[in-house]
Amino acid sequence: MDDINYLKRKIKEIIKESPVPEDLVHSKNTLEWLLKLNPDADEALQIAALGHDIERAIEGRKVKREDYKNYNEFKDAHALNSAKVMTEIMKECNMSKRLADDIFSLVRYHETGNTKRSDILRDADSISFFHVNLPYYFIRNGAEETKKRCSWGYRRISEHLQPIVAELVYRNKELEALVRTCISESE
Ligand SMILES: [Fe+2]
Repeated sequence: MDDINYLKRKIKEIIKESPVPEDLVHSKNTLEWLLKLNPDADEALQIAALGHDIERAIEGRKVKREDYKNYNEFKDAHALNSAKVMTEIMKECNMSKRLADDIFSLVRYHETGNTKRSDILRDADSISFFHVNLPYYFIRNGAEETKKRCSWGYRRISEHLQPIVAELVYRNKELEALVRTCISESE
């Protein structure tokens, strides 16, 4: 069996079960943005894009916001936990250590970036959050939390890519106004 295809299938199976309804779309959409930002993105980056949030799909494994002092610590724990889950799945797939270590590291640093490649993953993930997740996030968490999340998310996008998010339009008028405010306050 092709190990890479098995791995991709396994990631999809797990994320499909996520209690967060937009998780599967976000996984695919992050890969789409990754390929828009870098059409030559290698296999490890593509797999990391699909699986970067995988821990969130597993009830009983996922980290919880209330257990962390602040949002950055929570996001760091989320990235580490997703990287660990990916490593466990990759062990079932007979992957080379080199590829498995590379994917671990990309997922581990997807929230902050730490190399040119993980920076692209962070940007693809951040743009996809605005593209796919934000309307769901708004309904679940309300205006005040969404505003904080928007500002946090917008600031983590590389400056030259921020116009991509600024061009997105939201059907919900309150959300649209909120995003406009966030963007103008961040500039
Ligand atoms: Fe994500």
